[in-house]
Amino acid sequence: MKKVFILAVCCIFAFTNCKQPKENTITNTYAEEPHSFAQPNQAVITHLDLDIAVDFDTQIISGTATYNIKNNNAKEIILDAKYLNIIDVKADGEQTAFTLGDSDEKLGQPLAISIQETTKKIAITYQTTDKTEALQWLNAQQTADKTNPFLFTQGQAILTRTWIPIQDSPQIRITYNATVKVPSELMAVMSAENPKEKTADGVYTFKMTQPIPAYLIALAIGDIEYKAISNRTGVYAEKSMIEKAHAEFSDMEKMVATAENLYGAYDWEQFDVIVLPPSFPFGGMENPRLTFATPTVIAGDKSLTTLVAHELAHSWSGNLVTNATWNDFWLNEGFTVYFEIRIMEALYGKERADMLALIGRQDLDDELESLKDSPNDTKLKLDLKGRDPGDGMNSIAYDKGYLFLRTLEEKVGRENMDAFLKSYFKTHAFSTTNTEDFITYLNINLLNKNNITFNTEEWIYEAGIPDNAAVIKSDAFTTVKNVLTTFIETDAIDTAKTSEWPPQEWVYFIRNFPEDITTSQMQHLDDTFNFSESTNSYITMVWFEQSILNNYHGNDVDARISKFLNTVGRRWYVTTLFKAFKKADRIDEALAIYKTARPNYHTVTANTIDALLNE
Ligand code: BES
Ligand code: ZN
Repeated sequence: MKKVFILAVCCIFAFTNCKQPKENTITNTYAEEPHSFAQPNQAVITHLDLDIAVDFDTQIISGTATYNIKNNNAKEIILDAKYLNIIDVKADGEQTAFTLGDSDEKLGQPLAISIQETTKKIAITYQTTDKTEALQWLNAQQTADKTNPFLFTQGQAILTRTWIPIQDSPQIRITYNATVKVPSELMAVMSAENPKEKTADGVYTFKMTQPIPAYLIALAIGDIEYKAISNRTGVYAEKSMIEKAHAEFSDMEKMVATAENLYGAYDWEQFDVIVLPPSFPFGGMENPRLTFATPTVIAGDKSLTTLVAHELAHSWSGNLVTNATWNDFWLNEGFTVYFEIRIMEALYGKERADMLALIGRQDLDDELESLKDSPNDTKLKLDLKGRDPGDGMNSIAYDKGYLFLRTLEEKVGRENMDAFLKSYFKTHAFSTTNTEDFITYLNINLLNKNNITFNTEEWIYEAGIPDNAAVIKSDAFTTVKNVLTTFIETDAIDTAKTSEWPPQEWVYFIRNFPEDITTSQMQHLDDTFNFSESTNSYITMVWFEQSILNNYHGNDVDARISKFLNTVGRRWYVTTLFKAFKKADRIDEALAIYKTARPNYHTVTANTIDALLNE
């Protein structure tokens, strides 16, 4: 009786869960994709057991990556590897043949491993090298506490293959377990279930039971501590940063609850943020369960925590529903910006949301201007074959993506929009989608259903911004503009009007200086508002940009710019400032700073600035 019951339950399960694969056969169909050598329709990885030791003296990670695989009668399985030493490969415990193919500057090498029809596991013993692109090894001086070294990884877009041999394509998802051995004075954390305290022996074990793409596998190691905000949110940081980080991000539980309220349950159990040393090349990176963040968001007044809303939003758009290829990157980022601004609106009101949207619109206009000679790059759907997927990481994916969704929202109404998005996330959870599938889903579930016509194809496949784009307004910014105009015309500023301005308004004020603003006007503003000494990194960054562009040298600003560029490696900030030097024809000064700053940068920032200054 009991047996029959169990059998019946199993059958129902197999029936309702039609994705339930037969053991060891491939049920998904994967698309051709330009940034991975993997041939997942032939043989694909499904689970990783990573066993590594991290040596800070030699700056080498070494160990074994063991994969469970599914095989469609293929004779080999192909992985991606870049700048790795492959030492030995086994198939089901027996040594097996492997070849590393020709090396491509961007993609690295195909690692082809001989397997048999029956092979269930492959194990690759390997070491990283000093050419690794994902890892940044920091000495004690480059950290906040300055007492211990630090290591972090950055996987997106195609860098995971430089620290783990893997099928490095966003459409291939795996679960993972890891054992990581580190010096006992340090703690290791990953995009997985994490420790909250150091272990005595420096050995840490991790589990990620939800399937994720390779670019979301992440590791950070340092002398860090944990402090909880709620039972599912908290912060990791070095000792000297932990209290500041905890205070800055104290709304995190509210953010998760707000996000859930908008688009459905948070599926990853824990949401923590680790504050990394200042060389971290991004504002934030949405590694599942553990967002990686730059310390430059810690402003002391929560004014830059929209970044946390952004990375949290990726827990749905990106991590739960992942772009199938990097050509569909706008599906990750455009949806995330839309979701981020909705979280900010729900939590802090429409005024704050409008400001964010308008700053984005300005970024978008600047980007369109700088891409005016390559209109194809202003399309949402890109063709990045032969190019670095990082080329797609600009305001088009983010802010044109946002504007498309915002325009769509205004057309269909918020209620329809939200019901649609909620079902989109639910239907595609833990899987992948591409632009074409999205359009089909949109037509069926939102447009046709409500008898609405919309120029989706124009938005996605054509250059520039369609005429029906939503008009974004911010009353607060209109006031800011008026104060600025009066100042430029009269050289007088009414500080009663500016005393309550939050940092966003100051950023808007500074960014909108006219090109002919004079150095004495700059000096006047600096003397009145102390911009050069601001502790808000966003204000400092835009102020430094204007100082460079307008040849302003007061209040020690040159030394401050140099110091900023020598400590902060956040690519967006660094690029903005080096671009300003170039535009102002001050290339010698830029090169002098870069000479000492470059060794502090992660490869992704260094590569971008190398290209910029060599143009
Ligand atoms: N996933 C991105 C960062 C990224 C994109 C890394 C492409 C590598 C390749 C992250 O979510 C992001 O967008 N970060 C922004 C945050 C901002 C939009 C709030 C950043 O780093 O500035
Ligand atoms: Zn993002």
